[in-house]
Amino acid sequence: MHSRILITGGAGFVGSHVALRLKHTFPAAAITALDNLSRAGSETNLPLLEHAGIRFQRGDIRSLDDVTSAVAEPDLIIDCAAEPSAMAGYGSSAEYVIQTNVTGTYHCLELARRTQADVLFISTSRVYPYGLLNSLPTIEQETRFALDPKQPLPGASEHGIAEDFPLDGPRSIYGTTKLVSEYLVEEFADAYGFRFIINRAGMLTGPRQMGKTDQGLIVLWMAAHHWKRPLRYIGFGGHGKQVRDVLHIDDFCDLVVDQLQNFDSYQGNRYNAGGGPSNAASLQELTTLCEQITGNQIPITPDPETRPADVKLYITDNRRLTADHDWTPQRTLAQTLESIHHWLTNAGDDIKTVLLGGVRP
Ligand SMILES: NC(=O)c1ccc[n+]([C@@H]2O[C@H](COP(=O)([O-])OP(=O)(O)OC[C@H]3O[C@@H](n4cnc5c(N)ncnc54)[C@H](O)[C@@H]3O)[C@@H](O)[C@H]2O)c1
Repeated sequence: MHSRILITGGAGFVGSHVALRLKHTFPAAAITALDNLSRAGSETNLPLLEHAGIRFQRGDIRSLDDVTSAVAEPDLIIDCAAEPSAMAGYGSSAEYVIQTNVTGTYHCLELARRTQADVLFISTSRVYPYGLLNSLPTIEQETRFALDPKQPLPGASEHGIAEDFPLDGPRSIYGTTKLVSEYLVEEFADAYGFRFIINRAGMLTGPRQMGKTDQGLIVLWMAAHHWKRPLRYIGFGGHGKQVRDVLHIDDFCDLVVDQLQNFDSYQGNRYNAGGGPSNAASLQELTTLCEQITGNQIPITPDPETRPADVKLYITDNRRLTADHDWTPQRTLAQTLESIHHWLTNAGDDIKTVLLGGVRP
């Protein structure tokens, strides 16, 4: 098993959950979390990491020195550092998202080249072009858009979007940085002989996600209900019928553990990993669930204009992971939302300040 693990973005939502799970599962492993703490709220995870015996190293993956000096001889690098917003680079410079998401990944690969460490790269469903996704035939139902069972494109079906969905067309600046990084991972692994796995994650959520309007929507929605702040249904007519599937971060961590324990059987592949059709909801439906859990109703204003690169409907087709590795999400959407609400109920003022900073009327 791996004994010296570097997790970039290790103080962030995904990185800190993965770090804590790996320390719990492999207590003898030395784990370093590298993070520049640029995401508001990531600093609140540091005591948890320290308590678990995970070493925190403040550093920036845009710096090759910071990455290569973080751990002397890692045998595993998990790249979770990113600017993860699909809105990044619109209306302002794209320099940070490109330097972090592309150059930063290259620095991880340079470290892997030098050390022959295995690489686990956290990619995204955002690699699939939004134009193609939005062109898929849908049926407008009372509370949501649904995929028409008859789909013209490969990789699209009533099960959702699979790995062979076409990749031609714009996908957001963020999505492009992640796809470029996927190609770099594959290319470097081929050139230098290290092992890799790529997970194209759908919408991940759970406790300790610092949700804001452009990333971490499920937590943002629950936080607004919990603390009674207004929200907006943005885009696609402003009716809240757009749909996402949702994966609890613990289900994602289950997958990562299995991948590390059976690296060779996953090696060299890309996998879609998300909540799947049974864990999908529209914003309207999410509102109803949040109302039921919190007992609160809040004003939600329609804002019909669709934001750049937004997607009407995305549901993950997990069937490759299920068929090849027997992985399926175990937590239901309701359980996922309950776990977030439980966290918010016990959250301190620091978390409240971070989350409410992201709620705009
Ligand atoms: N959360 C999701 O729904 C989701 C879905 C698909 C893929 N992903 C991917 O998972 C990874 C983690 O995302 P997340 O949701 O945990 O986001 P996050 O913002 O919570 O975590 C990212 C962490 O990286 C750090 N970071 C940012 N720029 C950095 C830099 N230049 N140097 C060092 N650290 C830096 C931030 O401070 C933060 O702690 C990303 O690669 C993202 O693309 C996330």
